[in-house]
Amino acid sequence: MIANDKTASARLLHWYDAHARQLPWRSPPGEPAPEPYHVWLSEVMLQQTTVAAVKPYFERFMARWPTVEALAAADEAEVMSAWAGLGYYSRARNLVKCARAVAASGGFPRTEAELRKLPGLGPYTAAAVAAIAFGERAVVIDANVERVVARLHAIGEPLPGARTQIRERADILTPSERAGDFAQAMMDLGATICTSRDPKCLLCPLAECCEGLASGDPGRFPVKAAKKPKPERRGQAYWIERSGQVWLVTRPAKGMLGGMRALPDDGWSAQGDGSGSRGGETLGAVRHVFTHAVLTLEVVRLDAREQPGGEGEWWPVDRIEAAGLPTLFAKAVQVALAQR
Ligand code: ADE
Repeated sequence: MIANDKTASARLLHWYDAHARQLPWRSPPGEPAPEPYHVWLSEVMLQQTTVAAVKPYFERFMARWPTVEALAAADEAEVMSAWAGLGYYSRARNLVKCARAVAASGGFPRTEAELRKLPGLGPYTAAAVAAIAFGERAVVIDANVERVVARLHAIGEPLPGARTQIRERADILTPSERAGDFAQAMMDLGATICTSRDPKCLLCPLAECCEGLASGDPGRFPVKAAKKPKPERRGQAYWIERSGQVWLVTRPAKGMLGGMRALPDDGWSAQGDGSGSRGGETLGAVRHVFTHAVLTLEVVRLDAREQPGGEGEWWPVDRIEAAGLPTLFAKAVQVALAQR
């Protein structure tokens, strides 16, 4: 660690001691580390999802499955249903797989390398759990950390190519003591001060050593390659109602929103061009942004006599929230209900 990096890390930890956010999965700075189960679960939930959105889910999971053994014994469909609304549902399936492997081996392994061997546990989560729960000096990089490092060192290369440099720099900055606090301090700084828009440099503990600020335009970093527009897809979802009940299906385990309960549809996720569409009364449409595409899903009422073949269940419309529908279909249901 060169002198300037050492100063930056020490300043950041000092700032964290006074300004750490209190979050339900955290221990305050300087206190014994939180349970690895809490750290792992929160880190999986926090990928691609905001702290505000995660908090109530984390609390509900804790109340329902207070230990990794309890989660390992859970019915996968119930976990999927409790995950509904958080998005990226493969995370929920992997969660159960991983919990079972951890319970079978008697607890979480304590190193990044061993954590990495667990099913469905990726490099980010392994580093975060190793650092936060076990104090290992692991380099933890999420989007917040990426932004802080790119600004601190005014890295002009655009993402995603800049990730190699960012990792090298983050590695140099990471202290051998308090690596977990350091990682979370970087995240908090990125979330509250070194924000993507309008960074609050006047409040920043790293302002004096920030090359991005010295350049006069810290908000320019990290430089991003021009975005390609996402492909547009169209599809239909079907509202089939009979005596206060609506027909729901469970989506195939593999593929988009796999294993989730849903309204039946025209197979847009496989074809994407609406070629399987059927006639019926159009109730409205929802737009939904996925990682790789933007979907316009038309909501069409079909006569209950046209009940599609295959597996499904009649679900009481007045208990639709309990069906654990993913957000796309929850939005489609709202469109249908507005027309009743
Ligand atoms: N984002 C991802 N992990 C986080 C953590 N441990 N604290 C705050 N924000 C986070």
